[in-house]
Amino acid sequence: MKEKETNKETRNETLHEITAYYRAQGAPRDQTALIACLREAQTACGGTLTGDDQQTVAQALGVGTGYLQAVAKRIPDLRLGGGAHTLTVCGGAACRGRGAALRRYLEDELGARDGQTFLNGTWMYRKTGCMHACRTAPNVKIDGKLVENITLAGLKRRLGVK
Ligand code: FES
Repeated sequence: MKEKETNKETRNETLHEITAYYRAQGAPRDQTALIACLREAQTACGGTLTGDDQQTVAQALGVGTGYLQAVAKRIPDLRLGGGAHTLTVCGGAACRGRGAALRRYLEDELGARDGQTFLNGTWMYRKTGCMHACRTAPNVKIDGKLVENITLAGLKRRLGVK
């Protein structure tokens, strides 16, 4: 738990440093600076900004999270998670093969669609290319953290689904 809190603190510190830099460059009024800020924040957070991350960035920039999401919608490489958590599923060949049941469950049973929230908006669903950990396929990332060799039961547990 302590480690989790420390990670979160470090993440927030990083996000504050990034937003402070781009504020000085004119964000959020200057859209170019704002977009660069969101890109850098996204990279620093492992590829997506969760709801918590967005809140941190939005507060530091003095705007609402809805505004950040509206800006991000126009920029294809910006991936702001709408839910509290983000589930990123590897779409590389090894994970597609060994994780077929996971994807079927997510997409057919839960109705998850790339770039959209599912489970009543609590999770954002993302698909990516190979996560470069093919030996332990199937792999997913939960809030940017790699979870290797995930089983359907393990996924359900993490999603909080019975
Ligand atoms: S195919 Fe999933 S990690 Fe490479």
